[in-house]
Amino acid sequence: MGVPMWPTVAAAVLLTLGVTWQKFCQSPAPWIKELDNLGQPRKKKLPGTAVVCGGSIAGTVTSRILADHFERVILVDPEIGKEKKTRIMQYNAAHVFLSLFVVGARRLWPDFDEEFQAAGGRMAPADMQLHYSGFAVPTPYQDYPQGCFPDTIVSRRSMGQRVLYSLLMQHSTGANITALAGTVRGLEASGDMGSIQSVIVRRPDGTQMHLNDVALVADCTGTTQAGLKWLTSAGFTLPEDIRCSYSGNLRYVTMCFAVPPELLATLPIPETVLNVGLVYCNAPHFDFGSSLIGLVNTDNNTMQILISNSDNDGALPEIASEVVPFLLQFRSHAPIPSWFVETVAILCEHGNPSFDNIKTPTQTYIRYHRLPTNALPSNFIAIGDANLQLNPVHGQGFAKTILNGLALDPLLRSINPDLGNLPRDFSARYFKKNAAYTHGLWDTTRLHDYGTSSCQPMKGETKETGRFSRWFELRFVSAATQYDEVASALWHARNLMAADRAILAPTVLWKILWARSRF
Ligand SMILES: Cc1cc2nc3c(=O)[nH]c(=O)nc-3n(C[C@H](O)[C@H](O)[C@H](O)COP(=O)(O)OP(=O)(O)OC[C@H]3O[C@@H](n4cnc5c(N)ncnc54)[C@H](O)[C@@H]3O)c2cc1C
Ligand SMILES: *[C@@H]1O[C@H](CO)[C@@H](O)[C@H](O)[C@H]1NC(C)=O
Ligand SMILES: *[C@@H]1O[C@H](CO)[C@@H](O)[C@H](O)[C@H]1NC(C)=O
Repeated sequence: MGVPMWPTVAAAVLLTLGVTWQKFCQSPAPWIKELDNLGQPRKKKLPGTAVVCGGSIAGTVTSRILADHFERVILVDPEIGKEKKTRIMQYNAAHVFLSLFVVGARRLWPDFDEEFQAAGGRMAPADMQLHYSGFAVPTPYQDYPQGCFPDTIVSRRSMGQRVLYSLLMQHSTGANITALAGTVRGLEASGDMGSIQSVIVRRPDGTQMHLNDVALVADCTGTTQAGLKWLTSAGFTLPEDIRCSYSGNLRYVTMCFAVPPELLATLPIPETVLNVGLVYCNAPHFDFGSSLIGLVNTDNNTMQILISNSDNDGALPEIASEVVPFLLQFRSHAPIPSWFVETVAILCEHGNPSFDNIKTPTQTYIRYHRLPTNALPSNFIAIGDANLQLNPVHGQGFAKTILNGLALDPLLRSINPDLGNLPRDFSARYFKKNAAYTHGLWDTTRLHDYGTSSCQPMKGETKETGRFSRWFELRFVSAATQYDEVASALWHARNLMAADRAILAPTVLWKILWARSRF
């Protein structure tokens, strides 16, 4: 009798499955192919006016995309044209920009790099010098030819926002965009409640006006998430639980320093990290509180330190003399480098620091994608924080508006301009496609936060929710400090340059499960 064949067959089947699975996990994220068309104006425009409510990051990105598709775009914001934005709490907070944001913005604005550099910002490899509880997580330079690592922009948010707005208006499609100073007060539905017909705006002089002939309305009002209220007032009945939130209790301090070249020369920062994305970043392990610490070499001879905290008893520094003592009592599995503490000490003494302390008590998500198909008017969408507001420490806010745009743009491209209005299910299709790209961000950041001491979970969940996910996260980061391939999956997923499934590729997964745990 010969050797039974089945073990060989079984092994061959398993191998084939494994290879297929590996290929699937490593295939590009679905939104990456949508980048090809992003920023290409269509020949025959869709009729009517697209109204964008809110003119910050989401409003700017959305107006640019809608101008490729619609005859006219009106962008409404009470602070249009004002140099200082007072309605955006985090206007002076330190921001980092994930690679997907840069990739998307370059599609929308071919002169994006030039304008940023002209304004004093830098393009730098998106090497965030990430450390986890003191251990370095390597940046996957080896995945790209030398000098071709994906970029981030390094600048203060205020500067970034100003540049984006002027790019919007300078672009050739800017000719068909009208920026209108005003506050959107509500929406009016068509007689059959199938769509939004007009948008009600209060001008700075107190007068009220109606914007008619509305083809599409985009809620880009950020944390205000005003669209939900407008829809309800306009007569749409939406279930109570469409809006969910948990209380992450996050506080965040940004210190901004003036660092002329003479001062920069005295800082003991290693040469290799001075001109990459971040100079230093340390993310906390649950056992040692919840403070994330970062140092960025920002635009125009400025540097910023950011420190976040979400513990009940975690006091953040409020004046220069409190910063170094804060760092000295900071605990982690591996120590933070002494050059970092020395640098901070010099900056606090000679860098003329300004402090910006803010609180973001809750994170909120309006789950429009859960509604039945015709519950929303056909031409209503929400982009940016107006839809999903995440814990900001992961720096996803700007890149998330690009993900929203990559859901919106191909749907608009598929519409025949001769049909007149948008199809009845347009809004539902947008929210479903968008949720497929962004819902995971809500799950991973929320479940992580449930592991911190003072977090209060959303209705229907407890702090036990997501236990497995937090266990896996620790194994994952632990393995990333030891294996380049795992660090690469982490970097790509974090920068939204790969789907989360990259982490589940067999060659990555077994390393995550077998690596010696550091924690
Ligand atoms: C502390 C902190 C740090 C952060 N760090 C990062 C980071 O490192 N990287 C990153 O990418 N993201 C970060 N974020 C997130 C990022 O700031 C937000 O995701 C981003 O600002 C959202 O943009 P938005 O346009 O959706 O909303 P917002 O920027 O909040 O803008 C909303 C706009 O709507 C306007 N508006 C409101 N109501 C009306 C109305 N009725 N009519 C007309 N206009 C209206 C307001 O005037 C405002 O201009 C951080 C957030 C915080 C809080
Ligand atoms: C502006 O709108 C008009 C009318 O739809 C269109 O013909 C023109 O191409 C648009 N211009 C730009 C730059 O998009
Ligand atoms: C930064 O520097 C650039 C170029 O030198 C200058 O044009 C710009 O006004 C500066 N911006 C700020 C905010 O200081």
